[in-house]
Amino acid sequence: MQPRAVATGGAGLHARAAAKGLAFGTAITAGQLRDPALAALVRAECGVLVPEYQQKWDRLEWRRGVLDAAAADQIADFARDSGLRLRGHALVWHEAIPAWALELDARGLGAAMEAHVAAAAARWRGRIATWDVVNEAIRPEDGRLDWLRRTPFLERLGPDYLPSAFRLARAADPAARLAYNDFGCEHATVAARRKRMGVLSLLRALRANGAPLGVLGMQAHLHAHLPFEADEWRGFLADVAELGLAIEITELDVNDARLPADTAARDAAVADLTRRFLEATLAERAVTTVVTWGLSDRHSWIRAGRLPLHRRTDRATSRPLPFDEELRRKPMWGAIAAAFDSAPAR
Ligand code: G3I
Repeated sequence: MQPRAVATGGAGLHARAAAKGLAFGTAITAGQLRDPALAALVRAECGVLVPEYQQKWDRLEWRRGVLDAAAADQIADFARDSGLRLRGHALVWHEAIPAWALELDARGLGAAMEAHVAAAAARWRGRIATWDVVNEAIRPEDGRLDWLRRTPFLERLGPDYLPSAFRLARAADPAARLAYNDFGCEHATVAARRKRMGVLSLLRALRANGAPLGVLGMQAHLHAHLPFEADEWRGFLADVAELGLAIEITELDVNDARLPADTAARDAAVADLTRRFLEATLAERAVTTVVTWGLSDRHSWIRAGRLPLHRRTDRATSRPLPFDEELRRKPMWGAIAAAFDSAPAR
């Protein structure tokens, strides 16, 4: 079956979001922005951009003490020149520690992390709407009572690295909203329920500590074959909102690798989950922003197949994003548009 065509023209996704006081955007790389067709699509559909990897520690400071920010600057300048907001991603993430920093002892890593957070936040001071200050610090499987992931930061610096990162970011950029960002909370599974407990525990600890945390970023890397319960998810979002936090959906895509190869059927299932997820999410008024992790299937990280969960057993290619390889709207685009159109105004 051929994929169902989605109407062209009409308002783009960010225009529909903005009509309700919301925002829509996507992750991007500097190289992708050199594609005129994609750059035009970004301008037509988005109000927010976030660097997919070129603003991370291992990319910015792959040489100690030298900030290689040219690519991230290109994204920031494109956003400024196109009137788009810029998300910062990500100051402290265990998967983006430069090789030279991993060799350091506790004192060395602490000093290097502090210097990096201060330098990166100062580099784009006043230009970042929301920084993902700490990314993915919760891992219930690591068995700690505080649910924290056993990262080099935790092992060498102790849990205080978490509030410290937020205070350093605030000192370097008084204007940016500061977010804790994580994944794996969205579905109605035992693992997601445990993850949500861990994330809530961390948010409460950071608030009690007086850390300048203002936003929870929920990545929303969804899986079309996993259950989703709107009431369960809305209950979690309400608990987060009660802490006085805003909520941003920061990396939305839908992994279809466990669905049959038929393209139209996969596109329909991806769109249906997107619709159900966003209808439940946007009903929570603390939610302000929806960002997809790419616009076109051709750029999705899922296609790299790094995770076994992303690999298909047939030769079909993943279709996790709102636009296909030729930048045509897919049913997922229609689901996002309908969710914004029916969302309560902020
Ligand atoms: O483009 C260069 C290429 O020129 C070079 O030859 C090659 C080998 O070094 O690297 C290429 O860049 C890679 C880039 O992906 C390509 O897009 C980087 O090495 C690689 O590290 C980067 O991976 C990114 C990954 O985070 C690690 O930073 C993915 O793009 C990105 O989608 C992924 O995003 C993460 C979020 O930050 C956090 N949430 C999960 C999400 C998915 O893992």
